[in-house]
Amino acid sequence: MFITLEGPEGSGKTSHIPHLVAYLRERGYVVFPTREPGGTKISEQIRDILHDMKNVEMHPRTETLLYQAARAQIVEQVVQPRLAAGEIVISDRYYDSTIAYQGYGHRQNLDQVRALVKYATGGLTPDLTILLDLEVEAGLKRKTQNAAEWNRMDALTVEFHKRVRAGYLEMVKQEPNRWAVINSAQNWDDVQNELKRVIAARLNKPI
Ligand code: TMP
Repeated sequence: MFITLEGPEGSGKTSHIPHLVAYLRERGYVVFPTREPGGTKISEQIRDILHDMKNVEMHPRTETLLYQAARAQIVEQVVQPRLAAGEIVISDRYYDSTIAYQGYGHRQNLDQVRALVKYATGGLTPDLTILLDLEVEAGLKRKTQNAAEWNRMDALTVEFHKRVRAGYLEMVKQEPNRWAVINSAQNWDDVQNELKRVIAARLNKPI
């Protein structure tokens, strides 16, 4: 099973994943956590270019292609082989981030962006995608509290990030069976419990 977590900035995905991994491993599953952009030596180098605050002049098309380059590598090197071996792969972001940020956020042609995503992934779609949803202002406020994590994408305008969030909510409407939405403004434990409930339901197992 391929599970992806998505959300606007500061939605807390990254802090939840290790606990979900531990929870699933305790139940006997072989689980492999990863993140995008990144997760392989090559993809982590591309991540550095993408997020470097010095690269302010990067064009949205350059940005879109670099995210796909990082993704093609991780899909081939990590995700596909692990899924083929019967493991559960949990990814902190996947191609829906590209549709939300590069498509809706930068207002690029969505059909063209989707075609690039399909090329980069070879058509690999998640079995379950969870949106940790949060008001943009609240998320950015959470993120500013950790200066080390602040990157070039965070520094885009609030309007950009509002289009990203609206884009996610639109994608949920288009594919309601793949997506689950969790309100990440709740306290951390409640979000974690909902995540476990949604994943257990998809695995057809009690929590
Ligand atoms: P994060 O590790 O804090 O989630 O940072 C990843 C950043 O990269 C975040 O701002 C979202 C952005 N991003 C895209 O714009 N497009 C993508 O395809 C991916 C995977 C991430």
